[in-house]
Parts: sequence; C-alpha cells; structure tokens
Amino acid sequence: MADKKAQLTVGEGNTLELPIYSGTLGHDVIDVRTLIANGYITYDPGFMSTASCESKITFIDGDKGVLLHRGYPIEELAYKSDYLETCYLLMHGELPNKEQKAEFSQSIMTHTMVNEQLKSFLNGFRRDAHPMAVMCGIVGALSAFYHDSLDNDNPRHREISAHRLISKMPTIAAMAYKYSVGQPIMYPRNELGYAENFLHMMFNTPADIKPISPVLTRAMERILILHADHEQNASTSTVRLVGSTGANPFACIAAGIAALWGPAHGGANEAVLLMLDEIGDVSNVQKFIDKAKDKNDPFKLMGFGHRVYKNFDPRAKVMKESCDEVLSELGIHDPQLELAMKLEEIALNDPYFKERNLYPNVDFYSGIILKAMGIPTSMFTVIFAMSRTVGWISHWMEMLSEPHKINRPRQLYTGSDVREYVPVDKR
Ligand code: CMC
Repeated sequence: MADKKAQLTVGEGNTLELPIYSGTLGHDVIDVRTLIANGYITYDPGFMSTASCESKITFIDGDKGVLLHRGYPIEELAYKSDYLETCYLLMHGELPNKEQKAEFSQSIMTHTMVNEQLKSFLNGFRRDAHPMAVMCGIVGALSAFYHDSLDNDNPRHREISAHRLISKMPTIAAMAYKYSVGQPIMYPRNELGYAENFLHMMFNTPADIKPISPVLTRAMERILILHADHEQNASTSTVRLVGSTGANPFACIAAGIAALWGPAHGGANEAVLLMLDEIGDVSNVQKFIDKAKDKNDPFKLMGFGHRVYKNFDPRAKVMKESCDEVLSELGIHDPQLELAMKLEEIALNDPYFKERNLYPNVDFYSGIILKAMGIPTSMFTVIFAMSRTVGWISHWMEMLSEPHKINRPRQLYTGSDVREYVPVDKR
C-alpha cells in the first residue's frame, strides 16, 4: 500500500522516513504514527489535514462537488434509489438484490415499535423541551432496554442493534414531536414505507387518519437519502470516538445526536429558518450580508459554507430541485422562500463569499422544504439525526469489524510549567 515515502527532517541530520498511502480516490496520506517514538507529535486543530481512520463507506471530493456512497454518486441514489436501499448499501457495501432488499425492509419495518415503558421516560421531560434534547435522552436510554444484544464483539449483536436503531428512530422522533404538542402518540404502521410511516406518525391523530400525500412521501424519502452519510463529519467522528472506547451502540448514537445538534453542523437547518425570521424582509438582506462579513460580528450566514465542499454541495443541488418541486406541487407561495433566494443571489455575487468559496449547503434548502411540508422548525435537526443514524451505525460497525485502538488525540500544552502548591493564607 505504501508505494511512496515522505522525508521529514527535524533538526540537523535527523531525517525520518514516513510512508505515504494512496486510497482509491482522494488525497494521499502521510502515515505519522511513528513520530511519537521519535519524540514528536503532529498539531492539527480542527483536523484540517488529518485522516482519523481508513474507511470504505463514503467519499467526498470537495473541490469537484462529488459525494459517493460505496462508489455510487449521491444524485443517482437520490433519484433512483430509496432510503432503505441506501441504508443497506451503506451498511453492507453493495446494493441489495430483490430478496435481500425485501428481507432488509421487512426486518426494519417490523421492529418499529418501542418498549411501552419508554413513554414514562418521555413523560419526564417538560413539554417545551427541544426535541433534540428528548432524542439524546431517549436514544441513550435504549441501552437500558436492550441488554440482550450489547456484545460489541459479536457481529450478529451489532447487526441487531443497527436494525433496532434504524427501525425505531422515526418512532422516537415522532413521539418527541407529539409530546411537545400534547397530542397522543401515534403507533407505527408497518405496512407503510419508511418515510410514509414517519409522516403518518407525525401528522395523523387517532381521531383522524388520512393517507399521506405521495408528494410529501417522495420529498421526505429524498431528504433522508441526502442526509444518510457524509464521511468523517463531526457527529460521525464523535460516534467513532465514543465507539472506540467499547461503549454500547445506543450510547454512541446518543453522542452523535448531541454533536449533530450544534448550529455549525446539523443544527444549521433550524438556524437557517430562525435567521430568515430575523432578517424578516428582502429590504434587510444587505444589512445581514454586511453583518456576516464583519470580522467583529459573530453572525454567520447559516446554511452557507462547508469544511469540505469548496465548489458546491451536491446535496444542495438535489435539495434545491426537490424544494422547487414540492413548493410548486403543493402550490405554496412562501415569502420566506423569496427572501432565501434573494439572500442566495446577493451572497453568490459578493466577493467576500466568492473568495472564500462559500456556497449554500444542504441545510440552506432542507429547512425551506421541511417548512413547506408542515414540519415544525424544532424538528428539522431531529429528521437529520433520523436519517444520519444509518451513517453513524455503518461507521461504528466498520470500525468494530477491524482492528482498532481507542481514539485518543494528544495536545500542544501551553499552560503553566510545574509549580509548587501555595497554601491559601499565603496567596
Ligand atoms: N458566513 C460568513 N462567513 C463565513 C461563513 C458563513 N456562513 N462560513 C465561513 N465563513 C468565513 C469564515 O469567517 C472564514 O473567514 P476568514 O478566512 O476571513 O477568517 C472563512 O469563511 C473560512 O471559514 P472557516 O470557519 O474557517 O471554515 P470551516 O471549515 O472551519 O467551517 C462551517 C465550516 C460549515 C462550520 C462554516 O462555514 C459555518 O459555520 N457555516 C454556517 C453553518 C452551517 O451552515 N453549517 C452546516 C454545514 S452543512 C451540514 C453538515 O454537513 O453538517
């Protein structure tokens, strides 16, 4: 694998040879693992130039705007596949044949219920709790319900936990929503598709069960596919880090949900809508663009920029098309959408955003589409978490199926040198 070598000269005459690996695609990687034995470590805050693991699941070329799951471009999956098939692909590495697809869907769609006891757990939350707080708590609590299959070294146990998580996430998400609005919790309906069942649990009540519009089902299916995985992003790296300690999968996914919640990550879709509310009117757009450019102002344009995509976000492209489709099919004329389009137009033509390669990301459009579908703003990031669960669990399974070490970074220490303790009366 190491066909090239890098030489690192530190001081006089001390030259270290470091192997360089080439993956299937992407940057070559310098293996720095032997540095510590030579008295050095590397420094890379924010992991700008650090590969934390080897992976075969997802590839991103940020300069070309490419996203591949197991080699398949995201656009192909979004237009031709469905969410459960994409889940199978991410977990198993290949698209399923007919029988495998039917068996996988059957397994996921027949484990959608959660233990009734979880309702008591839910009742412990305030009604106005943010549904992401509820998700962190309830998903973490699942480990208390499934003691039977928590042996991380057993591949069958890993698979059972993966299926449980993918199956139950929409039920828990819809429970969190129903609880917040004081409506009875809707039980899942296993004969529905994955996205349709989620919308059923969100929008129907026991008193009024209506079929879910195919337009909404299709849009939700696409949102789920587009968010299913994204390589070593902050929440996936969190899941891998927690998983590297041997923690159980429910605890790992709860940690991923917490990481996703931040507005710089998955919380951005909610933050986009809150920002549009704050801007209020097209006439205020320039003022907010100026704020985003002002170094002394912490304000950032939510839904713009990405650590890896420096050309365009391929998910945003599909999401924008989906957004247009949903709005026209539902006949929605939303002034907030006009505001968003104006913001996009001004930002894309502004030298500040052009020079820094800041383009609208997936969250810029997903917030708008989810709003048009009637999903409350506080549920946006929950839906992201629901969809990303398969990505997190696939990375967790990949890590555990190979030799791995506990993830334990080092630091550049700049605190005090050793000093003597001074008793309080002498300070
Ligand atoms: N508005 C204004 N300026 C920005 C923005 C923005 N949204 N994003 C980056 N910049 C500026 C930043 O101030 C910096 O300027 P300078 O070089 O003058 O110091 C430059 O662009 C580079 O930005 P950075 O913060 O060093 O880039 P990063 O890779 O560390 O951060 C990011 C990426 C996504 C955290 C950031 O762009 C951001 O906070 N965007 C808004 C939040 C958002 O939409 N997040 C969703 C990401 S997509 C969904 C997901 O995968 O989670």
